[in-house]
Amino acid sequence: MPDWKALRAEFPLLGRYIYLNACSLGPLPLRGRAALERYAQDWDQKGTPVWFSDWLPLLAAFRDRVGELLGAPGGTTAIAPSVSVALTTLATSLPLAAGRKKVLIGELDFPTIGHQWLSRPEFEVEFVPSRDGMTIPPSAFAERIDSQTALVVTTHLFYTTGYLQDVRAIADAAHAAGALCLIDGYQTCGCVPLDVEAMGCDAFVGGCLKWLSGGPGNAFLYVRPDVIPRMRPQGTGWFATRDPFSFSLQELDFADDARRFETGTWAMPSHYAGLAGLELILEVGVANIQERLRDLTDRILVRCDQAGVRTFTPRERERRCGIVTLECAQPEEVEAQLHAAGVIVDSRPGRIRLSPHWCVTEEELERGMDLVFHHLKAHT
Ligand SMILES: Cc1ncc(COP(=O)(O)O)c(C=O)c1O
Repeated sequence: MPDWKALRAEFPLLGRYIYLNACSLGPLPLRGRAALERYAQDWDQKGTPVWFSDWLPLLAAFRDRVGELLGAPGGTTAIAPSVSVALTTLATSLPLAAGRKKVLIGELDFPTIGHQWLSRPEFEVEFVPSRDGMTIPPSAFAERIDSQTALVVTTHLFYTTGYLQDVRAIADAAHAAGALCLIDGYQTCGCVPLDVEAMGCDAFVGGCLKWLSGGPGNAFLYVRPDVIPRMRPQGTGWFATRDPFSFSLQELDFADDARRFETGTWAMPSHYAGLAGLELILEVGVANIQERLRDLTDRILVRCDQAGVRTFTPRERERRCGIVTLECAQPEEVEAQLHAAGVIVDSRPGRIRLSPHWCVTEEELERGMDLVFHHLKAHT
C-alpha cells in the first residue's frame, strides 16, 4: 500500500481543510501547480514553435495516459473540453440501429445525460426507475431494452448515491437486443480500476476534474475501435481531420482514429494540469485508491449508523467506492456552516454528499464526522 501520509504532502489544500468533496473537485497537487507554471514558461520562452516542441506531444501523451487509465487500445481515446461536449459528439455520431428511436437512461444519472437526448426530437427517452432511490439493478435496464431500443446510456457510479453499477451486465443486455451502450464514468475515473474492453461498453466518457485531480477542461472519451470508422461527428473542426496542416477547405477527411472526435485548438493550460494529475494517480495506483476509499466510506457508514443518520449509499463494499450521501433537510446551510468550520462537503437536494480525498487521515475523518453530525442535528 502507498504511504498515504507522505502522499498527503502533494496536496497543500488538505492542510487547510478536512476535504470531503474529492468527487466534485479534486485538490491541486504540487506537480499540477508546477505544470501550470511550466505552461506559462513554455509559452513565454518558446513562442509559436512550442506547438511542435511541447504542446502537440503533451496532448498525445494525455490521450495515451487516458488510454492507460481506461485499459483502452491505442488510438481509441480523444480529448474533449467537458463531459457534456463529449456526450454531444457521441450523440451525433454513434452508429445506432436504423429505425430505432428509444434511448434508455437511468433515473439516477447525471442531468447532462438526460438533457443530451431530450434536446434531440428524433429520440424517445425513457428513464429506468430506481425502486429504492439508491440503486438500479441491471435487470431493471434489461427489462426495458427491446427491439426499439437504440442506445442505453448510464453512469458507472451514481453521483447522488455512490452506487457502482455492473456495466458488463447492462452492456450485454443492450447488445443482446442490438442496441449500443454508452457509459459516463466521470465518478469512477481515478478511483475505480477501469477496463473498457472487459466492461463491454461501446463508448465511455470521463474527465480529470474529480478523482484525477487534474482541474477543469480535461474531459475525454473512448470509442470501441471497430465502431470508430463508422462515425462522422456533426460537431467537428480541423483538428478532427487526418492532416490538419494540409489546410484543405473543400473536403472533410476524418482522422482514422479517435482524434476524429476532437474539434479545434485545445485549452493547453488545462491539459498541463490534467496530465500531471493523471500521472500522479496512475503512479499511486487506482486499485490502491479504491481500497483506501472503501475503507474511509466504510467508516463513514458506521459513524452514520451510530449517529442514527439515514444514508443513501449501498452497504456492499464492492458496490460503492468514494461517495456517501446523508439525509439532510437543509443541505445548503449545513454545507456553508461546515465550510466555516473547516470541512468541505457538497450539498445536493435533500442530501449532504461526502467524498473524502484518499489522503484524508483517519483522525481527520473522525473529527470531520463529529462536525457533520453537529451541524446536521442543528438543522433537523
Ligand atoms: C457523472 C457526471 N457526468 C457528467 C458531469 C458533468 O460534466 P461536465 O460538466 O464536464 O459536462 C458530472 C459533473 O459533476 C458528473 O458527475
